[in-house]
Amino acid sequence: MNRALRRQQKKMQAKQTKSALHGGTVMERLNAGAALHKQRKYAEAVKYYDSVLAEQPENTDAMFLKGASFVASNHYDKAIEILKHCLNLKEDIAPAHHNIGLAYKEKNMLPQAIEHLERAAELDPSNSLTKFHLETAKAGNTDKSSTEYVKNLYDRAAGVFEDNLLGHLDYKGPEVMWKLLQQHCPDQRFENVIDLGCGTGLMGVKIRDICGTLKGMDLSDSMVEEAKKKKVYDELHVASLTDYLENDGNTYDMITCVDVFIYIKDLEAAFEEISKHLKTGAIFAYSLEKLDDKHDDDIWVDPKTHRHKHKQSYVRMLADKYGLEEIVMHEEALRLEHGKPVPSSCVIVRKK
Ligand SMILES: C[S@@+](CC[C@H](N)C(=O)[O-])C[C@H]1O[C@@H](n2cnc3c(N)ncnc32)[C@H](O)[C@@H]1O
Repeated sequence: MNRALRRQQKKMQAKQTKSALHGGTVMERLNAGAALHKQRKYAEAVKYYDSVLAEQPENTDAMFLKGASFVASNHYDKAIEILKHCLNLKEDIAPAHHNIGLAYKEKNMLPQAIEHLERAAELDPSNSLTKFHLETAKAGNTDKSSTEYVKNLYDRAAGVFEDNLLGHLDYKGPEVMWKLLQQHCPDQRFENVIDLGCGTGLMGVKIRDICGTLKGMDLSDSMVEEAKKKKVYDELHVASLTDYLENDGNTYDMITCVDVFIYIKDLEAAFEEISKHLKTGAIFAYSLEKLDDKHDDDIWVDPKTHRHKHKQSYVRMLADKYGLEEIVMHEEALRLEHGKPVPSSCVIVRKK
């Protein structure tokens, strides 16, 4: 679906949901709330659930949906309160157990999280996300920055990745990077290329025609399976990018790495390996979420999204250290977060 069509669809949905709040049936209001939740407009979704609860204070559907919106917007105490109440009225609601489990997990109250996630898995054994959260809660792994966590996340999200990113979050990393490459490396062809953290292959699709051999690699098996379907990569591999490069004897004419550094805190090892694998004069094209200069540190982990932001001065220092000269550092939001553009940079450097 193209951007204009998506915008039009969003406008129509907004109109429908607005009319539902003013006089819609209970079902219409629950559906409108769920649609807003899907668009990550959680506070607005809660208004619809509240309007149902004002009329039917014991409507458990409105309660568990409201609890889910609270969890998604990081209001864990409020989520626990309403979901407890919901489960007191009706004990066998799988999404209520799932969400209260997530809320407890976020608060690091792991025994409570495990109890509810186990009950959710019992009620809905097909929910792989419940299983994932249960496994990681049991393993005590709540570090969302860990490679293992990111891998699990993408293994489970691969099927909905493009709908989510392109549809709801207006993701345009590969598109912006492609424009920059055309602008700054016009008519250039790259014989040997690797796309690090290739995901479902959105970048591969853009650059296929200017590459000789194009390899893709990613941490997540499921993302690589999705990338295979695009039929643009000559080879695909599953590994963490630094592990992969450490064992890779090849050198490249271009390395791309779009929307991946958000998952890596210290970029030094990545820059060192990438630089080693670039031929003289070769291109490294990557993106980052930009950390404002007013921060004291070079790197900041967003406590809500668990993504890393890096200062431009930090990556410039690393580029300098590893012999990479800047061609362009372009600033543009590459996606939305809660409806707001996320300040980002697309960077192209050349190996000296
Ligand atoms: C937001 S997606 C971006 C995918 C693709 N580059 C794009 O622009 O559409 C991030 C991808 O990076 C991968 N990833 C995260 N950390 C990684 C790492 N250390 N090594 C390799 N891939 C990683 C994830 O599995 C995921 O597929």
